Order: sequence, then structure tokens, then C-alpha cells
Amino acid sequence: MHKSIEQRTCPYRAAIIGTGSFVPAKILTNDDLAKIVDTSDEWITSRTGIKIRHITTDNESTAFLATEAAKRALADAHLDAGELELIIVATITPEMVFPSTASFVQSALQAKKAWVFDLAAACSGFIYGLAIVQQFIESGRYKNALVIGAETLTKITDWTDRTSCVLFGDAAGAVVLESRSATENDKRKGIIYSTMYSDGSSWEALNCQAYGSRYPSHKELDDPNKIYMQIRGREVYQLAVRRIVETVTECLERCNLSIDDVKMMIPHQMNGRIIESAAKRLNFPSEKVYINIDEYGNTSAASIPLAFDECVKAGEIKQGDIVIFVSFGAGLTWGANVIQL
Ligand code: ACO
Repeated sequence: MHKSIEQRTCPYRAAIIGTGSFVPAKILTNDDLAKIVDTSDEWITSRTGIKIRHITTDNESTAFLATEAAKRALADAHLDAGELELIIVATITPEMVFPSTASFVQSALQAKKAWVFDLAAACSGFIYGLAIVQQFIESGRYKNALVIGAETLTKITDWTDRTSCVLFGDAAGAVVLESRSATENDKRKGIIYSTMYSDGSSWEALNCQAYGSRYPSHKELDDPNKIYMQIRGREVYQLAVRRIVETVTECLERCNLSIDDVKMMIPHQMNGRIIESAAKRLNFPSEKVYINIDEYGNTSAASIPLAFDECVKAGEIKQGDIVIFVSFGAGLTWGANVIQL
């Protein structure tokens, strides 16, 4: 039996006290893509909602993007990196096989007190990361944490495959969370509810197979395309809509919320049509559904914190507002967090 917001008895809550994001300067337009594969601005816009995406240059790595987003979030939170206790980097395009991307971020930030790790849950990585931090903070074990979603998907994109190369961009987004007493008399309740799901049996729907233990670098690949992301777009499309609808419905029910209580739903930006279709089924009005895929494409784990930072900085979400993050991605993984800012 899950408890409603009012019934929760934890002495601590995980409040978001700072947001930040970073995207590379280089832009790739739909017209640029039409010069390298058989596609058009009209096809990409009408099927995905994407107009441009930001892409990294050779010397911009995942840890670089993550660190820049983290610096902005820490500045926004007025927290010194040396005070951080935990850093999670959600990514499926890590700096290298090991050590973790989070190790590079820790070193760059000089966050010497923190313990750090990467979380590989693809597009749901940021949501999983918040849920983990929620547990550590609510238990009273930690006072603060930094969660970053950072991806350089364009580095594992097959630029000859028109069905996938039009979809992705590079970015990082971050939030700083801090423990607050649940009895404090402010509106900022922090993370109210998190729910996560996985279905490993459908891993083939979205994957990148090379250079793990199944296909190590010394072994010749039976298919050279295994160094790139492979997606079964149509299958993912249907599942994504269904899971987003189920997960958001669960959040509303378990938290005793109506759509009127929610200021904004911020979905993972995988395809504008997927988001609109799910929102329609949920009866969410379009002004309560944040979409910025036109400018960034699908940036996997980075997309929700990037959109959240944009929303906060634009004043579209204010303290006390209730926001739902929802995601679906490779694994398969899906889930949601309900936040009161
Ligand atoms: N330009 C022009 N035509 C194209 C392109 C393109 N870029 N890509 C595909 N087409 C063609 C196809 O070849 C097909 O032609 P055909 O009918 O002659 O065979 C036609 O367009 C329709 O193809 P569909 O795959 O049915 O197109 P759909 O409307 O499903 O859109 C899309 C494809 C955009 C990929 C959609 O299915 C989708 O967004 N799926 C989910 C994406 C996804 O998996 N995202 C997660 C990625 S993983 C991660 O985030 C880490």
C-alpha cells in the first residue's frame, strides 16, 4: 500500500535546490542531414518534431558535458562541490569502459568528499538516479547529492542510417538535491514519489552491442553495424506511449493528484508524436506538457534534466509547483518521479 503525500512519515525529504544544463555549440539541422542521407526537413519534422540538434566535436566528451552542467547546477544551488556527498552520472555513452564517467566529473569538480558512480538505464537513467538519491536522503544517510544525465549519442550514431541518425543529439543536465526536514513549513516537498520498471527480455528493441564482453575489441564483429545504436523504431513507439500513460496514471493515483494539481509533465524527449499521443490519452492539456525536442533531438538521460532546467530558468515552474518526470528507453526501462519544487 503506497502512502499519499499527506500520509508520508519520513523525517527527511529530498528537495531539488539547483538545476543546470549544457549543450555543445555545434548545431546540425535537418537540412544538413538531408545532405548526407535520403531524408528531408519535412519528413523529420512531421515524424519526430525535431528541427535541430546540438552535437559534440571530437574533443567534447561526456564527462566534459556532465561537468559543465554540474558546475551550473552547483552555482544555482550555492553549494560548494567540496560539500557533495554523492554524485551519480546517468549515461549510456560513458567517457570510457572504466573508470566511471562520474570519476572524471568528481575529479574536475574536486568533489573530494563524494562517492560516485555511473548508472546505465538509458533514457530512464535520470529518473532512476533521482529515485536512488530519494532513498539515501529520506533514510537520513545523506544530506546532499548531485544527479547528472549526460550523453554523447552522436558518437555511437550510424550516419548512413536515415531511420536513426535523424533522432539524436548531445547534452547534459544536472540537479543538486539537499535533505530538508519534513516538518519545515515550506511548500518545497522535493521528491514525492518515484516508480521504476524494467523489462530485460526486450533488450533487442534498442541497443549498441560492440565493445562489451560479448563483443570485445579483439573479436571481429559479425555485423560491423554493431558499433552503432540499433533501434526498432516502430515497436518502441507503441510501447513508449503505453508505458508513459500507465506510469503517469500510477503517479496521479498514488499521490492523490488530479491533472489540475500538476503544473507540468516533463517527459523524456524521444519523439514529439510519442509525447503528444501519450498526453492526449492522459487528457493532459498541451500547456502542461513540456516539449523541447525541436531544438535538441533525443538526448537520452540528459533530456529530462535539460528540459527541467530550461523550464525553471524560464519561470515556467516555480517553488511549490508539482512536476512529473516520465521516461521510457533502452533496457527496456521506464519510470517517473513526482516532484514538488
Ligand atoms: N527520412 C525519410 N524517410 C524515412 C526516414 C527518414 N529519416 N526514416 C525512415 N523513413 C522511411 C522508412 O524507410 C519507411 O519507408 P517505407 O514505408 O518505404 O518502408 C517510412 O519512412 C516509414 O517508416 P517508419 O519506421 O514506419 O516511420 P515512423 O513513423 O514509425 O517513424 C521513427 C520512425 C521516427 C523512428 C519512430 O518510429 C520513432 O520515433 N520511434 C521511437 C524512436 C526510438 O526508438 N527512440 C529511442 C531511441 S534509443 C535511446 O533513446 C537511447
